Amino acid sequence: MTINHPNFGAIADDRVIMFDTTLRDGEQSPGFSMNIDEKLRMAEALMELGVDVIEAGFPIASAGDFESVNRIAQSIRGPVIAGLARSGREDILRAAEAVKPAERKRIHTFISTSALHMKYKLRMEPEAVLEAVGRSVALAREFTDDVEWSAEDGSRTDPDFLCRCVEAAIRAGASTINIPDTVGYAVPEDIARIFTMLRERVPGADGVIFSTHNHNDLGLAVANTIAAVKAGVRQIECTINGIGERAGNAALEEVVMAIRTRHDAVPFNNGIDTTRILRTSKLLAAITGFDVQPNKAIVGRNAFAHESGIHQDGVLKNAATYEIMTPESVGWQKTSLVLGKHSGRAAFRDKLRALGYGEVGDNALNDAFRRFKDLADRKKLVYDEDITALFDETVVRDRS
Ligand code: KIV
Ligand code: ZN
Repeated sequence: MTINHPNFGAIADDRVIMFDTTLRDGEQSPGFSMNIDEKLRMAEALMELGVDVIEAGFPIASAGDFESVNRIAQSIRGPVIAGLARSGREDILRAAEAVKPAERKRIHTFISTSALHMKYKLRMEPEAVLEAVGRSVALAREFTDDVEWSAEDGSRTDPDFLCRCVEAAIRAGASTINIPDTVGYAVPEDIARIFTMLRERVPGADGVIFSTHNHNDLGLAVANTIAAVKAGVRQIECTINGIGERAGNAALEEVVMAIRTRHDAVPFNNGIDTTRILRTSKLLAAITGFDVQPNKAIVGRNAFAHESGIHQDGVLKNAATYEIMTPESVGWQKTSLVLGKHSGRAAFRDKLRALGYGEVGDNALNDAFRRFKDLADRKKLVYDEDITALFDETVVRDRS
């Protein structure tokens, strides 16, 4: 059945909604907080990237959080602007006020549903939680038709109770139902089972968008996200560079490129302009002061770099030998052949060409290559300036 969403209208069966929570869940991680101007810059970049929903913050958390959500709601046009709220009245009123100026707005309200969280964190009986679900969604609906409800610690919740909570949220008017793997405990089979069960058992499930929100404590956030999409979920919650509580959230760039590169296995579409991925990642790193690790998929500096001679030779002959997507498709200029002790003659010759030396004779090449290998043994990274110096020296020496 095609879902008719209050903000998106009729959603094609193969379309997934990209919900970015860099400015909320991402910002909640130690050291990643952003000021209002920084959040606005990130929100603009997310809009240009093509995300469908920007979760701009948690308005009740602080005056600054309220203001940044409110300023983003005033100035960003296109994406739906969401504000997070617990189930209490004050939270929901604050979120409603913050997102009020948005062209398209959403209130995202949540409560824990697992036995562990209800007993120790909320100190509430399950029936009281169930009642809070209906009450909070109904209150949020007084301010907007677009209400998302989340079952915090949903992946560790008793299945029957989860079904009852989801049913209560749908009855009260939620149009998106999010089941977070809050502590990153689930494996892909768990995620697939939960969504399949909810879609089969809960009355009204075919009229709402199911959403997945995965933390990365076991490094499974992206795999769990893909499993959810295959099980019928049509909203993905994620963050740029995978920032988020503890080990982070599913990384937007990884999820998007997994779906695009393996469209045969995950045949879904989204509105992300992938060529803007790298610049968005770099903007976040510049704002927060945290660079991604070199081997980070898609946006790490080694993601399209090849040092070993065998790989470099292959890539020079046909990039597809060692690259499953083009660097340009995510915003890198080109493949980088990094010269180091594992590099071969083909890459060295190619580098000399790129540095403007044209076609170099075999003798000069062999001599320079030998000296380059000596240097690479001593130095971890050989830069263009090192090669230039080394080759110029070789030529001068050969002439004298
Ligand atoms: O991880 C989580 O459970 C959350 C909810 C508040 C959506 O971030
Ligand atoms: Zn989360």
